[in-house]
Formats: sequence, structure tokens, C-alpha cells
Amino acid sequence: MIRNILKKTAKQILPVGVYSSIKQKWNYWARKKKLKAAYRYDLKRFSKYSDTLNTDSSQKLVGKIIREYHVVEKGLTMPEPRLGFGREVLITLAEDCIEYVNRYNTDEPQLLHAIGVILEYETFHSERKFQLSDDIQLWINKIKQLKLVIPACPQKEITKEDFFKYTESTFPEFAKSRASVRNYLNEDIPLKKITQALAMAQTTPSQCNRQCWRSYVYTDKNQIGAILQAQGGNRGFGHLANKLIVITSELGVFNYEGERNGAYIDGGMYAMNLLYALHYEKIAACILNCSNSIEKDIKLRELCKIKKTEVFIAMIVCGIPPEQFKIATSKRYEIDKTNTIVNH
Ligand SMILES: Cc1cc2nc3c(=O)[nH]c(=O)nc-3n(C[C@H](O)[C@H](O)[C@H](O)COP(=O)(O)O)c2cc1C
Repeated sequence: MIRNILKKTAKQILPVGVYSSIKQKWNYWARKKKLKAAYRYDLKRFSKYSDTLNTDSSQKLVGKIIREYHVVEKGLTMPEPRLGFGREVLITLAEDCIEYVNRYNTDEPQLLHAIGVILEYETFHSERKFQLSDDIQLWINKIKQLKLVIPACPQKEITKEDFFKYTESTFPEFAKSRASVRNYLNEDIPLKKITQALAMAQTTPSQCNRQCWRSYVYTDKNQIGAILQAQGGNRGFGHLANKLIVITSELGVFNYEGERNGAYIDGGMYAMNLLYALHYEKIAACILNCSNSIEKDIKLRELCKIKKTEVFIAMIVCGIPPEQFKIATSKRYEIDKTNTIVNH
């Protein structure tokens, strides 16, 4: 009420130019205030509900277990696995699985899968007659003492022909056949195949058709190597990359505090579409994290030479796969765990 009176009076007594300049500044500060409040709201929620500050719920602990077993699964599928790899992560994983069983239950499918992966780690090494260190063996034995009847979970082995067999099939078959591949030949992907995939990914829906995504395709081995070294999540396979696609989103097309995550939503949808398009083009691909710390963000901006108005979404390592390779199991939840049909 008072605000409206003040506004009306100011409009009457001030020269038009002065009034509109004050109004502009007012709007600027009002929007900035709302933006700050929105980010504070996010900060509060993320601090409380993510696993960043403490692991005080079953959901947080299971998220940690998944992150840890994923490292082991990846190690088991590497082109040249280093025997005895991942000592620290394997021990932490075993500790966390035991803690989960003690604190919660033994029904969690991802916990059971993690135990299967630990047992597979042991089988993998014994088949290669590699003696695991005493501390690793101790923790594996503790896992066995839980007496949960879970078979070792071998990673998938597949031929190139079978992997790309469904690229022209029905969508359910096609979607099921895509997986992250972390093994590539020293062979060039024709650039045309990449540009065809990029053209297909252009069909991605976006907020008001704003198409915020931007792609950078790197072809130079040295530049790819430097970017991947900074990214850090590609040990054991990144050096085999033939092309690297960095996906960013342009912030300039987003408007107010309600759209603060728009770049990541639309950029993420584009990334998925591009993964499917690359699979259709029979290009093996693995999407990599760009959820960076401030220091890493600055470093990657320098190396990738993206525009300062853009944010990183993800990067995709691409290559031609060998005739036979392994892929991580990456067990999915049953659909009733992640979907709710709401009746009323
Ligand atoms: C945003 C995002 C970031 C990822 N980052 C990495 C990464 O840094 N290194 C890696 O090896 N895999 C990474 N992945 C691949 C996941 O591990 C993989 O998608 C997941 O385990 C499911 O397996 P699938 O792609 O074979 O279906 C990432 C996936 C997504 C969606």
C-alpha cells in the first residue's frame, strides 16, 4: 500500500528520465534480492539433504555405497585392469556395507549389488592368481561373514557386433542396448558421424525452445589429454579417446530466480539425446562429470576455451570400440523404487 503511494507520488513529481532510472535500479535490486534468497534456499536444502556434511540417513549411505562400488565396477571393466587396483575404495566400500547392515537392513538392492561387486573383485583376482593384500582380504572376509547369500556379480562382456545390434531396432531395444563404453581402438571416428549425431541431438526439447546447449568437439590428442587430465574421472581409458565433446549451456537465455537451474535441465536433456544419437551412429561413448569445484571449473574453462557466459554440463569421450569389450553392470533399481503412481 505505502509502496504504491510512494511509487505514484514519485512518478508525479520526478522528471520522467529520473523516475525511469530509479525504477530500473529498483527492479535490479529487487531481482537480485530474490535471486540471493533462492540460492540461500538451495544452499540450505542441499546442505541438509545431500551427503555433503554428514551421512545421517540410509539414502545418503546408499548413495555413498553406489559411488564406491561404481569405482570398483569401472576398474573391473578397464581395457587393462591394474591388479590390486582400488585398495582404499574397496576397504571403504566394505566398511560402509557393514555399517549399512548394522544401521538399517539387508533389503536394499544396491547394498546387495555392492556386496556382489566386492565378491567379484575377489574372484577376478583369484582367477588371475593375484594375492590380494592382507587388509583387503580381511575386509572381504568380514563381508562374507554377513552370511548374505549373494553371488559374485561379473561385469558384462560383449562383442562390438552385439553392442550395436539394436541401433535400428525398436526404441525399448535401442534404449536398453546403450551403455557407457570405456574402451576404444586407436582408430579415427569420421567427423561426419559426430556432426550427424549433433544434428540428431538438436531435436532436444527446451524451455520456450531456447536451445541453451552448446557443443565443442575436440579432435587434437594433446588438447583432449589435457582436458581429460583436469576432468579426472577417466583413469584407465581416457587416454584412448579419439574425440571429446564438451557440452555447455548458455546462461544468457535464462531470466529470473525460478530459472536458475534451467541451463542444467535443458543441457542435461541435450546430453542424453546426444548419447543416444552417438549410439545410433555406432560410436562408443562415456559421459563424464563436469560437476566441478571452483578451481576445476576455472582450469577447465581455460583448457576448453568455452565462453564465459556458458556453464559446463558434461563431456563425452568418444571412440571406436574393439571387437570385444567389457561394460560395467551399473545395476538399476526396479521401477517401483523410483516411480510412484499417484492416485489421489
Ligand atoms: C552427468 C554424468 C557424469 C558422469 N561422470 C562419469 C565420470 O566422470 N567417469 C565415468 O567413468 N563415468 C561417468 N558417468 C557414467 C556413469 O557412470 C554411467 O552412466 C552409469 O554408471 C550408468 O551406466 P551406463 O551409462 O552404462 O548405463 C557419468 C554419467 C553422468 C550421467
